[in-house]
Amino acid sequence: MAETKTATLTLDGKTYELPVLSPTSGPDVLDIRKLYSQAGVFTYDPGFTSTASCDSTITYIDGDKGELQHRGYPIDQLASQSHYLEVCYLLLYGELPTKAELEKFETTITRHTMIHEQMHYFFRGFRRDSHPMATMVGVVGAMSAFYHDSTDVNDPRQREIASHRLIAKMPTIAAMAYKYSIGQPFVYPRNDLDYAANFIHMCFAVPAEEYKVDPILARAMDRIFTLHADHEQNASTSTVRLASSSGANPFACIAAGIACLWGPAHGGANQACLEMLKEIGTVDRIPEFIARAKDKNDPFRLMGFGHRVYKNMDPRATVMKESADEVLELLGVENNPLLQVAKELEKIALSDPYFIEKKLFPNVDFYSGIILEAMGFPTSMFTPIFALSRTVGWISQWKEQLGDPQMKIGRPRQLYLGEGLRDYTPIDER
Ligand code: CMC
Repeated sequence: MAETKTATLTLDGKTYELPVLSPTSGPDVLDIRKLYSQAGVFTYDPGFTSTASCDSTITYIDGDKGELQHRGYPIDQLASQSHYLEVCYLLLYGELPTKAELEKFETTITRHTMIHEQMHYFFRGFRRDSHPMATMVGVVGAMSAFYHDSTDVNDPRQREIASHRLIAKMPTIAAMAYKYSIGQPFVYPRNDLDYAANFIHMCFAVPAEEYKVDPILARAMDRIFTLHADHEQNASTSTVRLASSSGANPFACIAAGIACLWGPAHGGANQACLEMLKEIGTVDRIPEFIARAKDKNDPFRLMGFGHRVYKNMDPRATVMKESADEVLELLGVENNPLLQVAKELEKIALSDPYFIEKKLFPNVDFYSGIILEAMGFPTSMFTPIFALSRTVGWISQWKEQLGDPQMKIGRPRQLYLGEGLRDYTPIDER
């Protein structure tokens, strides 16, 4: 991290020199770490709109250009030429694997996909109609009660095992949460299937008959996983880092990430988006919903639109749109009414001055739900699929943070606007 310039802050007639850090790519960063000890002031930035919370070498986003890179590789190349487990390796270890490294990694992940048998009873404690995300938050948190031998965050080997366990078991847990919610028996993982095909099998197979996974659907699933694998310091990743900064165990940290992801402003947007498209229903109702999204007095937002960082097309949405066309054609539903509504909505919104001025473009969640629904997933499974895909990103960021010798507990300060000091009033005098 090059430190080439300084910025000068003048406050109450005194000047302070702030180092300016230059990243590999992206805007310069003012280093304010010593500001409070030197000048006695805090900075104020709710929502972290101008704050870099850490340094990282994993993912880079250029929001103005609409670019996303993992370890320097553009997402469109990874989505078209690589596959999810290779991208997992890249995120975790920093480089693309050799053939032998990839084979070893895939074998390790494949051989960790089963969960402790006693965890099956744990699932049965949930209400039958639980949202699969509710089940996942609980079950992933509970992994710390089942895998004691990989909770010591100071032991690099235990960290490695926990990483592999989480990546391997998350599809099993998501599929079990789904099976439980529809009253079907759990389907065990199969080692002869690849990561994506195994997930589809665990979701849709039943013990009564053979289920063959369509390789084209498995490829589409794998691409959805790849497109969601990491996205630098988003809300859920920052949650994982903050939880981990206290030394909490990895399973607890990832459960915290899942909880944060669930909200409709973040990973819950894919479910909310598909529900919105269904509510719109037909192309002629689009203007009514566009008008609502623009109305300041209406809390309605166009789900799947807008992003804190992208002020251009989300590159993941571009790939997702192509994938939607391919998958729907394969399934013989290319005239899917939801896809027609989505395409028309995108066209109308992108030519509307409100969306142009505010730089609101479709994001990754805009088209993913259409593909997932066409594949047979209910809307309640959309965010769990996001969670299982993002697990590698959370884990890679968690691992990076724990390896940072400068790591400190995350402890933001505040701008206190409450009452000043006052004396306690006894209850009969109030
Ligand atoms: N529909 C209508 N208006 C919008 C939308 C939208 N989807 N998104 C932002 N705006 C308006 C917003 O009202 C505000 O207007 P004004 O400046 O007049 O007050 C302006 O655009 C800026 O919005 P913001 O809420 O201040 O921006 P933010 O960076 O805090 O929020 C966001 C980003 C993603 C939460 C927001 O765009 C949103 O709520 N989008 C819909 C939910 C969604 O699709 N989320 C998925 C994000 S991508 C995947 C992920 O992160 O998990």
